[in-house]
Amino acid sequence: MRSLLWLLLLLLLGEVTAYSGDSEDAEEIVAILQESISLPLEIPSDEEVENIIWYSQETLATVVPEKEGRPATLEVTDPRYQGRVSFLEPSYSLHISNLSWKDSGIYQVQVNLRTSQLFTKQHYNLHVYRWLSEPRITVNFEISSEGACNMSLTCSVEREGIDVTYRWLSSGDGNPINPNAEHEGPILSTSWRPGDNALSYTCRASNPISNISSHPIPAGPFCADPAYPERSSMSFCLVAKGLLLLLLLVILAMGLWVIQAKKNCEMPRMRKLKRDRMKLRKKGKSALSPV
Ligand SMILES: *[C@@H]1O[C@H](CO)[C@@H](O)[C@H](O)[C@H]1NC(C)=O
Ligand SMILES: *[C@@H]1O[C@H](CO)[C@@H](O)[C@H](O)[C@H]1NC(C)=O
Ligand SMILES: *[C@@H]1O[C@H](CO)[C@@H](O)[C@H](O)[C@H]1NC(C)=O
Repeated sequence: MRSLLWLLLLLLLGEVTAYSGDSEDAEEIVAILQESISLPLEIPSDEEVENIIWYSQETLATVVPEKEGRPATLEVTDPRYQGRVSFLEPSYSLHISNLSWKDSGIYQVQVNLRTSQLFTKQHYNLHVYRWLSEPRITVNFEISSEGACNMSLTCSVEREGIDVTYRWLSSGDGNPINPNAEHEGPILSTSWRPGDNALSYTCRASNPISNISSHPIPAGPFCADPAYPERSSMSFCLVAKGLLLLLLLVILAMGLWVIQAKKNCEMPRMRKLKRDRMKLRKKGKSALSPV
């Protein structure tokens, strides 16, 4: 009879547990990598609390409130949170600092009351995000036979983490951004023809804590103007090669000119020599003749 009563009590307790613990609507908490977060808890002030047990994948920590002059204590049982958790008084919310990616997930708190032995349970779903850095854009383009410039713009963020969305915005020549010309997703394919409006494309990356835009990328000049940074190195190479060739030609021409000039200088001297020799011979002859 007594054991039956116990069973009944256990069933009753189990039901209460199931009732309050089954609340599937976990509180969604958004937090920032390497920063801190509090998992909020509210305990009615008229309740006397035996202890508060926090769980993540396993038992995380136990808080025993102050009792009869003894100060409240916190015992951290999960080594992954050692040195990073504290509790806030008087609410007993759990404070976690220096959040890592691994801290994401489901948390649970169980409050055991001293008076009625009943407890309440609360669930949290913690999402950790990082601040996004400025998006980078890589451009691939191809000039089709009809003269159209087909471009594929790819937007990316370094170490993006989760839940990042990309959106492309285009703007005309000084015109405000046209909200109708938006495109979702990291890759934008577009084409441009000479004579088309000069559009600029901007990529905006967002996650639940931040959004950041890239520098605008002008489409038209990009395809037509070889001075655009992506291609300028190539044109610089061409110019350098051209200059080098010109220099070689100049050196060659100067060399030829110098050789020619030398020849021109030597010629008269040689003629003079010949003339002198001839004169000498003549002199010799005349000197000999009277003999
Ligand atoms: C935060 O945690 C990282 C490892 O996750 C550690 O390298 C860093 O030193 C910690 N920073 C502080 C201020 O505790
Ligand atoms: C360029 O894009 C147009 C459609 O926008 C397509 O018809 C054409 O085949 C593409 N040309 C090249 C070379 O990819
Ligand atoms: C982008 O972030 C700023 C704050 O940095 C916020 O004011 C703005 O509403 C956000 N915009 C979008 C579209 O999320």
